[in-house]
Amino acid sequence: MRLALTAALCISIIGVTGQQKFLSQKAEPPNIVFILTDDQDVHLSSLDYMPLVRKHLLDKGTYYDKHYCTTAVCCPARATLLTGKAAHNTNITDVNPPYGGYPKFVKQGFNSAYLPVWLQEAGYNVYYTGKLFNAHNINNYNSPYPAGFTSHDFLLDPFTYNYMNSSFQRNQDPPQSHEGEYVTDVLAQKAYGLLDEAVGAKKPFFLMIAPSAPHADIQNNSGLLTFDAPVPASRHANLFKDVKVPRSTNFNPKQPSGANWIRSLERQNATNVDWNDHFYRQRLRALQAVDEMVDGLFTRLESRDLLLNTYVIYSSDNGFHIGNHRMQPGKSTGCEEDINIPLIIRGPSVAHNHTTQLVTSHTDIAATIFSLLNIPLREDFDGTPIPVTKTAIEAEEKKRREHVQVEYWGFAGGEGIYDRRLHQNNTFKGIRVVADEYNLYYQVWCTNEHELYDMSNDPGQMANLLEEGVKMDTVFGYPIEKVVQRLDALLMVQKSCEGETCREPWRSLHPDGSVQSLRDAVAGKYDDFYGSQAKVQWGYCHNGYVPEAEGPMFQDEGLVFRGAGFMWPDWV
Ligand SMILES: *[C@@H]1O[C@H](CO)[C@@H](O)[C@H](O)[C@H]1NC(C)=O
Ligand SMILES: *[C@@H]1O[C@H](CO)[C@@H](O)[C@H](O)[C@H]1NC(C)=O
Ligand SMILES: *[C@@H]1O[C@H](CO)[C@@H](O)[C@H](O)[C@H]1NC(C)=O
Ligand SMILES: *[C@@H]1O[C@H](CO)[C@@H](O)[C@H](O)[C@H]1NC(C)=O
Ligand SMILES: *[C@@H]1O[C@H](CO)[C@@H](O)[C@H](O)[C@H]1NC(C)=O
Ligand SMILES: *[C@@H]1O[C@H](CO)[C@@H](O)[C@H](O)[C@H]1NC(C)=O
Repeated sequence: MRLALTAALCISIIGVTGQQKFLSQKAEPPNIVFILTDDQDVHLSSLDYMPLVRKHLLDKGTYYDKHYCTTAVCCPARATLLTGKAAHNTNITDVNPPYGGYPKFVKQGFNSAYLPVWLQEAGYNVYYTGKLFNAHNINNYNSPYPAGFTSHDFLLDPFTYNYMNSSFQRNQDPPQSHEGEYVTDVLAQKAYGLLDEAVGAKKPFFLMIAPSAPHADIQNNSGLLTFDAPVPASRHANLFKDVKVPRSTNFNPKQPSGANWIRSLERQNATNVDWNDHFYRQRLRALQAVDEMVDGLFTRLESRDLLLNTYVIYSSDNGFHIGNHRMQPGKSTGCEEDINIPLIIRGPSVAHNHTTQLVTSHTDIAATIFSLLNIPLREDFDGTPIPVTKTAIEAEEKKRREHVQVEYWGFAGGEGIYDRRLHQNNTFKGIRVVADEYNLYYQVWCTNEHELYDMSNDPGQMANLLEEGVKMDTVFGYPIEKVVQRLDALLMVQKSCEGETCREPWRSLHPDGSVQSLRDAVAGKYDDFYGSQAKVQWGYCHNGYVPEAEGPMFQDEGLVFRGAGFMWPDWV
């Protein structure tokens, strides 16, 4: 009922997030090359060690400083990228069945309804090499084959993270082992080959390249999965000898921080820290072959005269932490290191060497690709196109959604060699809000522990403002309690939103459009309204998306703000 009502009320604003218009659009449809690394961070400064990414992408493109993944683990993040839907709408919430992995992707019906298929329907040739999903393996690669590709050459499990013994599977061919060859170099050759195939076909194309670097190396030793540091190409093995994980304020801190299992972690000893520094250097070294591949791609785009009509997008599935909050190398949490990730776009009319603070997420990427290619947006997209020209970016700076919803189900595990425990109860909902006046992260764990961080004063998230005994009682001049009421109500809408309600969540609460931001919502006239909302509250912790575990799913029927001058539109 609620949803139907909300959907009806939102009809009037369809079009607000419509197509981007390009002044200098050439007659020829543009191409897209999308490079997606695995587990690449922003906050451990990995991009500082990629001079060729700097040269071709950062210096010649636009960097989205506030880009987020919404579920910080490979398969759910990739499913969101390729469908334009939040994980609670794909219900691909894990890397393996029953809650995730390639079999779950197929079971959910997405093999006939995702980006490659839609792009082919729009007349594009679609190419892919590298990792598609977890649990896409040497046994199930053909049951069924992933749909939507003109040509593909997938990296398959269980060898996806085996840097020196990978297995690739091209089109309808059987998997082929690349024992003894360096995986990113194999991948680069395949990417160059697909690019030439695309050029030869003389049709607009979408080429996606998904290296496994800088993910941890995983070997299957007779059934035992062994994690180790990433493996660089031998030519890069001795680089960065003195480099260490950045010692930010939350690096292996003296006092524990966070909540739930994170708060109970012991401080790491020197042996552990030293090894984690080694793990970090191996990540940077493993990224060098990716950096070279980026150079190889740009060389070819240029020599084939494609550079002026091709968008190149660079991102990662999720972020990464090493030692932050005493955690072992890994992802899967709501901390900024795990969710704030690289996004760089270069292409026709995209500003050079530009950085924007617009809030964007992986949920927006499919809509962005549609928009760049002038394909009408799908109604069921949970995200909105990311503007790419400077003019379009500036136009959205004052009106774009200022938040990202974050969600996770399952456990968190370290990927180094120390403390290999799987931390259960790592299921949570969060909301990251960024504006000029405030910069906040709010999270509700399935244990019903709450966290709120003021990210401007505390970027390391060391002081939970909702913890007993915390002195501070206001944020941006408003009582914390009132701000939390608003954030909680927004999170309540977001955690089960679909399509339009995800794109315009404040409209579910204020159908008259009077509230578009947290700033608007904190006004005193809404105190009673927000004070009476149902709270985000978990029934219990579960490793998958089972609504029964997740407490109230929507704000109460009828709890929509209809105060001060609200009029139902004529067509209701
Ligand atoms: C990019 O911009 C920064 C300052 O914003 C400047 O220092 C740098 O030289 C610029 N780089 C290029 C290649 O233009
Ligand atoms: C590489 O993988 C193949 C299976 O594809 C396996 O038979 C072989 O033993 C592996 N080699 C090494 C060095 O692990
Ligand atoms: C690991 O190898 C064993 C056989 O040694 C196999 O039964 C198992 O399926 C493999 N695990 C994965 C995740 O592929
Ligand atoms: C350091 O910590 C690791 C991980 O807990 C442990 O295995 C190791 O024994 C410790 N080393 C020393 C010297 O205490
Ligand atoms: C998970 O959280 C529940 C409370 O929701 C608690 O009873 C249980 O002990 C926790 N389990 C672990 C492994 O921490
Ligand atoms: C998500 O998938 C799991 C596993 O198949 C299933 O148990 C659950 O009911 C699904 N959730 C929703 C909301 O459909």
